[in-house]
Amino acid sequence: MTAEFIKPVIWEGDAIRLLNQQKLPGEVEYIFLKTIEDVWDSISELKVRGAPAIGIAAAYGLALWAKKGGSDDLQVLKTELAEKAAYLNSSRPTAVNLSWALQRLLKIADQEVSTEKVITRLEAEAILIQQEDEETCRRIGEYGFSLLPEHATVLTHCNTGAIATSKYGTALGAFYIAKEQGADVSVFATETRPVLQGARLTAWELQQAGVDVTLITDNMAAHVLRTKKIDAILVGADRITANGDTANKIGTYGLAILAKAHGIPFYVAAPLSTIDLNTATGDEIVIEERHADEITHLAGKRIAPEGINVFNPAFDVTPHELISGIITEKGIVSGDYQTGLAELFEPAHI
Ligand code: MRU
Repeated sequence: MTAEFIKPVIWEGDAIRLLNQQKLPGEVEYIFLKTIEDVWDSISELKVRGAPAIGIAAAYGLALWAKKGGSDDLQVLKTELAEKAAYLNSSRPTAVNLSWALQRLLKIADQEVSTEKVITRLEAEAILIQQEDEETCRRIGEYGFSLLPEHATVLTHCNTGAIATSKYGTALGAFYIAKEQGADVSVFATETRPVLQGARLTAWELQQAGVDVTLITDNMAAHVLRTKKIDAILVGADRITANGDTANKIGTYGLAILAKAHGIPFYVAAPLSTIDLNTATGDEIVIEERHADEITHLAGKRIAPEGINVFNPAFDVTPHELISGIITEKGIVSGDYQTGLAELFEPAHI
């Protein structure tokens, strides 16, 4: 059975139609982004989220700006584009897919000799990034599925599904492929405090797709690993450094430690666009800190005392030693990540 996929980002030529993920699961609302500021706000406010999806939205945001507001002078346009790309890149600091997509567009713009060409090529490149991501995620899903035993039970964290990418998702891709192939897979989804991507998005996405999914709170993970015969933990990534250290949604590091304590494999699924060979180790990753309201309030209602100190990092870093394998569209890397990840980018591999 093939799942129906809902698209998080739709290019309309003169606007971006965006699935407002803040409204899920109660409402499937699409909003129109008409300016680069709309795109910045939507990324920052998590209306679009998930590393590949924010890269796609930002790419369209830059193409949109060029189409509507770019200078008629080629050199001025190129300088403005670099400024606008830096502006979009500042919307969220941790996921490298954002700068990866924007840099890809800037490189294209740099090669062109007329403003008209720059504008059409930027639009085409943004569309290509989104199209490529579909195939990429499908392959990641196939490799992920290949690691699972028959009748697998898997724990996942945050949301790494179709709505975090252009289709299929990364870690969740394995479950969509399982479904397509008629294989039996059960998923435990952590709710993922504070923003509840697991409860609001993963539970909803997998339920829609007919995948057997059970929602747990984050603090139930150790108990579930101990009592529910979990075959693997499968998560996504926002930035993987040259040595394999992986930034992902806050709580991932704790799950990796728990996996080790229980002798359960811990896999990270991510496209090459999430691998940042220019950053040596996880210590160098900038971890986004978000507004205190995300912790002091639940569904708009205050649950903590006024004036309480809050620490709200959106991501944590899992050291590579705790990772059993990194699943990419070019295959699965394990062991010596420094060498294995670098090899993925060699021409023979690409
Ligand atoms: O803050 P979010 O919801 O953007 O965080 C998303 C994650 O951490 C995902 O695991 C990651 O981006 C991979 S999405 C395929």
